[in-house]
Amino acid sequence: MNDTTGPAGTILSLEAVTRRFGAYTAVDRVDLAVKGGELFALLGPSGCGKTTLLRMIAGFEIPNEGSVLIDGQDMTDVPPYERPVNMVFQSYALFPHMTVAQNVAYGLKQEGMARSERDDRVAEVLQLVELSALAARKPDQLSGGQRQRVALARGLAKRPKILLLDEPLGALDRKLRERTQFELVNLQERIGITFIMVTHDQEEAMTMSDRIAIMDKGRIHQIGAPRDVYEDPTSRFIADFIGAANLMAGRIESVTEGVARVRLIAADTVVKVPSDLPLAEGDAVTVMVRPERITAWRDADSATPGNTLTGVVSDIAYLGDLSIYHVQVSDGLVVQVAMANRHRADHAPLTWDDAVTLSWYPGDGLVLTA
Ligand SMILES: Nc1ncnc2c1ncn2[C@@H]1O[C@H](COP(=O)(O)OP(=O)(O)OP(=O)(O)O)[C@@H](O)[C@H]1O
Ligand SMILES: [Mg+2]
Repeated sequence: MNDTTGPAGTILSLEAVTRRFGAYTAVDRVDLAVKGGELFALLGPSGCGKTTLLRMIAGFEIPNEGSVLIDGQDMTDVPPYERPVNMVFQSYALFPHMTVAQNVAYGLKQEGMARSERDDRVAEVLQLVELSALAARKPDQLSGGQRQRVALARGLAKRPKILLLDEPLGALDRKLRERTQFELVNLQERIGITFIMVTHDQEEAMTMSDRIAIMDKGRIHQIGAPRDVYEDPTSRFIADFIGAANLMAGRIESVTEGVARVRLIAADTVVKVPSDLPLAEGDAVTVMVRPERITAWRDADSATPGNTLTGVVSDIAYLGDLSIYHVQVSDGLVVQVAMANRHRADHAPLTWDDAVTLSWYPGDGLVLTA
């Protein structure tokens, strides 16, 4: 921790930040604290307010209520160009008639930085993003990934404390996108600048970030490390948004010593789920189990001890490394099971219409009440 960060290493705090457009509330009382050096992702469906939130941090948009603090300093009266942040836009917005070097130098020139210092700075950031050899090219002579790196270099040139990235990889195709994700994470680790990145791709957020904030309809619903939001979602929305989830409606029959017995309504079966929520008999709840935590057995006797359901295989998706099975448990309940295809030759794989027993350990389920 160093002197340039605020209390407990916090570089950005949002306090009850709200932005309305007419009668519509795009960002609704958002509280957020981002630590210096973090790679922080804002994740949520289209229209949930991600870009609006970034624009308020950058100063392009002013909150109707609440405050934005950077390094402990209130930004309300600080214009965008005086904030220690920079924003990389989704479209990259490169100047087509300028070279790579001129694009990167543009903001520094506007700022009145002397020529020699500017040249040094441009050379430095181009080296950082490994584009030194292409400094004299124009944007239309670059690949999509290279253009993305020019936009990144331009964002880094002013040495901001926080770099805001709005869908930084949105324009790249899948393969390039995956490679660039790793490059971006490595770069961020090397330079240590705080990155706040918007994405609507949950896999991207999981792969890249230290922590994720999940937004919906202008509000942040949960903040946590990728593992926390995957393993301990606080609502059905989060459980369903991050990864795949079986969400089974049920009713509490009893709770003893931290273990709830829940009757799954569609299956008319009781399962056990450890929970420290304040649950009472009769409460309507949802039991969540991830597909990869469930195993399907053709032979009921070999099923692992714990919770079981029985059903019939109704659909199979072979993905190579794993297969996804849809198992019809009852009229109202299809359970998704994901099992790894660990051996090349499996002589008796599960197939359509197989009667199977599904099993999972109680600790792999979660009770949700929201
Ligand atoms: N200047 C504006 N005037 C009126 N409504 C706006 C304005 N800017 C954004 N909105 C509305 O606010 C909501 C949030 O928009 P925002 O651009 O922040 O969403 P987003 O989460 O970035 O979505 P996407 O993933 O599609 O980029 C949307 O319903 C949008 O139509
Ligand atoms: Mg957006």
